[in-house]
Amino acid sequence: MARVALVTGGVSGIGAATCKALQAAGFAVAASFVADEAAARGFREQTGIATYRWDVADFDACQQGVAEVVRTLGPVDVLVNNAGITRDASLHKMTREQWRAVIEVNLGGCFNMCHAVIGSMRERGYGRIVNLSSVNGLAGQFGQANYAATKAGIIGFTKSLALESAAHGITVNAVAPGYTDTPMVAAVRPEVRERIVAGIPLRRLGRPEEVAAAILYLVSDAAAYITGETLSINGGQYLR
Ligand code: CAA
Repeated sequence: MARVALVTGGVSGIGAATCKALQAAGFAVAASFVADEAAARGFREQTGIATYRWDVADFDACQQGVAEVVRTLGPVDVLVNNAGITRDASLHKMTREQWRAVIEVNLGGCFNMCHAVIGSMRERGYGRIVNLSSVNGLAGQFGQANYAATKAGIIGFTKSLALESAAHGITVNAVAPGYTDTPMVAAVRPEVRERIVAGIPLRRLGRPEEVAAAILYLVSDAAAYITGETLSINGGQYLR
């Protein structure tokens, strides 16, 4: 029986590349999305990957969404918490709503999704969880106090859940991508983006497939002894 992998925010960017990599490696893959039905339909038709619609910021919706994945594909062996948003603004201009939305989706979503799968993983004595952090959670970024707080928070969350889960055959790790060629990075002002890319030692954006390869490694049997770690994929950006 194929292992079941669930990727949140799975129909575009790093999430879509991760779904495709997992599918190619033989997993039965579920991709969740929140809003864009047309994009989800296109992704489903192109890849044959099952898509499910719910909001990771909604605790009850996560419980119900995971139950639907279990009903259609089977218990979740691998969870990739990829869904995330930005609401960039300098702190003195940031609204409470911009703060709240990013905290609830990026950090709340990680809690909600882990909560929805962890009981079953513990019962079955097996699980792989990968949470998406960011170079901006490690280094900070002008205009991203909200986003950087969530991405730094995810690292502490990951370490704590790794400690709680190790005795149950579950590993929990994070990946911290740098600036990757996705719709999220495309939304950054061109002059800001160009300045950032010029400061990356490898002088280019990352490719979603390069992040997906790291996630695939962390959920593989070869990585069974790695837990509580954060793997950076950033072209050397954090070295500067
Ligand atoms: N670095 C240094 N200085 C900056 C700056 C920056 N990134 N952005 C603005 N400034 C400067 C301006 O030049 C200006 O200076 P002067 O007053 O001397 O002219 C001053 O700060 C303006 O400050 P404001 O608070 O008014 O900033 P703003 O409203 O013009 O811009 C912002 C705010 C749009 C958020 C902008 O800072 C920005 O685009 N920041 C980068 C955001 C970013 O990289 N987001 C990443 C999204 S992708 C992602 O998050 C994925 C991932 O994990 C990597």
